[in-house]
Amino acid sequence: MARLAASLLAVAVLGAAEPLLFEPDPFASPQLRGADPFGDSEEEPGRSDKWLRDISKRAKNHFKKLLQPLQTPIVQEYQVLGILDGYVNYTMQLVANATGHDVIWNRSAGRFLAEETRELKQELPPRARYINKILIYMNKEMDVVWNFKTMIDRKRWGVGNVITSSPYGPHGEHPERWRANGSWPLPRARPNQTLLLQEQPTNLVLRIKPDVDEHENKYAQQLQADYESLVYNINDASKKMSDLRTRLWKMEDFAHQFIVLPSGVWNKIDAN
Ligand SMILES: *[C@@H]1O[C@H](CO)[C@@H](O)[C@H](O)[C@H]1NC(C)=O
Ligand SMILES: *[C@@H]1O[C@H](CO)[C@@H](O)[C@H](O)[C@H]1NC(C)=O
Ligand SMILES: *[C@@H]1O[C@H](CO)[C@@H](O)[C@H](O)[C@H]1NC(C)=O
Ligand SMILES: *[C@@H]1O[C@H](CO)[C@@H](O)[C@H](O)[C@H]1NC(C)=O
Ligand SMILES: *[C@@H]1O[C@H](CO)[C@@H](O)[C@H](O)[C@H]1NC(C)=O
Repeated sequence: MARLAASLLAVAVLGAAEPLLFEPDPFASPQLRGADPFGDSEEEPGRSDKWLRDISKRAKNHFKKLLQPLQTPIVQEYQVLGILDGYVNYTMQLVANATGHDVIWNRSAGRFLAEETRELKQELPPRARYINKILIYMNKEMDVVWNFKTMIDRKRWGVGNVITSSPYGPHGEHPERWRANGSWPLPRARPNQTLLLQEQPTNLVLRIKPDVDEHENKYAQQLQADYESLVYNINDASKKMSDLRTRLWKMEDFAHQFIVLPSGVWNKIDAN
């Protein structure tokens, strides 16, 4: 009976749309729980070949225990990027207000989200498939994190491009001919977030150490490698986000220098 309910749940989950990412505890939600209908049975009908055996129940629980805590830093990275996005928006608004023109940052941009979907490897036996599904979920989150980071960096670059390519100040070489192309109110205040404070920078760089383990089972070996590469991916993203924050600080400085420049006078700032 319990097993039947679980498989119905699994069917419902497969039929559902894209799972919601960045839930604080996706492991408690049906989308990942539902994928574990085989959880506790040790027998594997039709798999006598030792080499093709599923991972053990112990290994499954071990991997689950390693992966579960990684959700926290991933969600944190996503939240930090939200703050950096608000910050780069602020810098864009300063510059747009001064020039009276939109900051163009996404002219040639197509879709940011890579459409590549990591297909569930259907040939995996149940327990390995379950862990693989968790890995796919977390890797998808990391794709979103990287795309978000790229978008913020493009905005930063867009701001730098306006500053660098306006050597005669915000209203150009002939300020008497300048017209605002719309309305860009000044932002009310610089975003006030602890992690944006330059005086005592919050460390954004994560150095998570993967739990290194040897496995005999070939599926376990693959899952171990995927787990380790997820950890390095999370660490790498945090490093790049920290670098991005430093660049955004610099860009804010350039923006403040730029917006007070007299127009019509050559004062090139190289902000790229
Ligand atoms: C930044 O601006 C974009 C576009 O106006 C908006 O969609 C996004 O919510 C803003 N980000 C934050 C953190 O306010
Ligand atoms: C660029 O971003 C703005 C919001 O900042 C949006 O309104 C516009 O549609 C985007 N353009 C393209 C080509 O994606
Ligand atoms: C002025 O704004 C419109 C859209 O509001 C845009 O299509 C046009 O390219 C802008 N012109 C300049 C010179 O930025
Ligand atoms: C810049 O901001 C000020 C204050 O919000 C506003 O009065 C002014 O019209 C803005 N300039 C443009 C070009 O939108
Ligand atoms: C801004 O942040 C600082 C330091 O975290 C805090 O002391 C101050 O009250 C904040 N200001 C506002 C207006 O929130």
